[in-house]
Amino acid sequence: TQAFFQGKALAGKNILVTAGPTQEDIDPVRFISNRSSGKMGYAIARAAWEAGARVTLVSGPTALDAPYGVERINVKTARQMHAHVMQLAPEQDIFISVAAVADWRVSNTQTQKVKKTGTQGGLDLALTENPDILAEVAALANGPWCVGFAAETENLHEYAEAKRQRKKIPLLVGNLAQETMESDQSRMVLFDDQGSHPLPVLDKLDAARRLVAEIANRTVRPGA
Ligand code: CTP
Ligand code: CA
Repeated sequence: TQAFFQGKALAGKNILVTAGPTQEDIDPVRFISNRSSGKMGYAIARAAWEAGARVTLVSGPTALDAPYGVERINVKTARQMHAHVMQLAPEQDIFISVAAVADWRVSNTQTQKVKKTGTQGGLDLALTENPDILAEVAALANGPWCVGFAAETENLHEYAEAKRQRKKIPLLVGNLAQETMESDQSRMVLFDDQGSHPLPVLDKLDAARRLVAEIANRTVRPGA
């Protein structure tokens, strides 16, 4: 295996990827979540492994198999994802945050199923903000080099660059939610401190390989 990884762009790097949605329980039979298949995050984990990295994937619930060679940790909630990521982050070289983390969790999750007969025609949910996993990792002293994702429905350039600066990360991948969700293709725009760089429409695995190459170019010193 040593020979297999030699000369690859990310040989010897530890890379942590989050993928999929998180689920936040209302009660034992109901949850709120985000629209995310996990395909892009899994493709990135696979592409990073192909590039020679040791890859850990912290995944919310998806229908996907773990990519070959990748260590997967399954979670449900944003707080579970947060706990695993914060524990693993210090030993990582690169963190790629692809998960569609639920921004809020239900404040008063019920331990028994809520009955319609008790709710008079509607149900109010109180929500509490979840930790921003990416922003916390980006704020670590000596933490990994961080890549964020943003799926926006409008004003992609403005929102994505503002998000990159707010989270203080070197690279953010923007795309339009209506183009990437429930799709096998992706059209990414990369945002870094040089500006914005649109990439062509690609199948998600090709997009992932291209992104991994862009990350390697920005993080691996030539000849290192
Ligand atoms: N993210 C995270 N933890 C959260 C929310 C988001 O790690 N609680 C990460 C996502 O994985 C993604 C990036 O932050 O890499 C941007 O997520 P996004 O939902 O677009 O940004 P938010 O800051 O949550 O802003 P909003 O949803 O209001 O657009
Ligand atoms: Ca969000």
